[in-house]
Amino acid sequence: MSATDTTDETEQAGRMAAAAHARPKSTADIAALYDDMAERYERWEWANRLFSGPLRKRAFSDARGRVLDVACGTGTNFRYLPRTAQLVGVDISADMAAAARDELDRLGRGGTIYRMDAQALQFPDDSFDTVVSALSTCTFPDPVATLEEMARVCRPDGRVLLLEHGRSDSELVGRFQDWRADTHYEQHACRWTQDPLAHFEGTDLTVVDSEELFLGMVTIIEARPGAD
Ligand SMILES: C[S@@+](CC[C@H](N)C(=O)[O-])C[C@H]1O[C@@H](n2cnc3c(N)ncnc32)[C@H](O)[C@@H]1O
Repeated sequence: MSATDTTDETEQAGRMAAAAHARPKSTADIAALYDDMAERYERWEWANRLFSGPLRKRAFSDARGRVLDVACGTGTNFRYLPRTAQLVGVDISADMAAAARDELDRLGRGGTIYRMDAQALQFPDDSFDTVVSALSTCTFPDPVATLEEMARVCRPDGRVLLLEHGRSDSELVGRFQDWRADTHYEQHACRWTQDPLAHFEGTDLTVVDSEELFLGMVTIIEARPGAD
């Protein structure tokens, strides 16, 4: 499988989702940006694990069965997923996907990585027992379409587990994020003032549990397929 071309409709919805930013990025822009960043991500993997490792463990350690990691990046989640999980990862960036394959080899575990657009997953309905994703809804041009895709490929009795970030509840920190939002988006294609739970409204996913940490900047979410 290869990356799908994003439809005009998806691109349009994405522009609306990123409307707060002066120059919303397309899916192709984001893939190119992360291709450029892949090497840096790999170099700083140890620091990423130091800070986010305990959060990933908390969010994902009880993933079960056939597991899809959406926007898997360099594969940072993989070591926090049970070894019994049958792992499939997807990412829009070819270089991030290549780094994720290397991580599977390093960990000595099986799995398959595809370059694929999370907004149009190329898997049949009900393909996975657990869908996981970390720090990703902030970068998708259309986060709602992506959640709908996660719901579609997850079995009706499965779970969608997310580790997300967004605007802090602390007014001081939140205002700093607001001030830097455009620059941050320009550099990382990341809407760091988003509200991750707001994307679920009207989707075919129901949030059954959520936990906010670090002044509300980090949210761990458990959702199940099916509208509220
Ligand atoms: C901030 S990184 C997070 C990577 C990884 N999940 C982690 O926690 O380290 C965002 C990732 O989303 C990927 N991404 C962005 N838009 C995507 C899309 N439409 N489809 C699939 N992957 C996408 C990027 O290539 C990048 O690897």
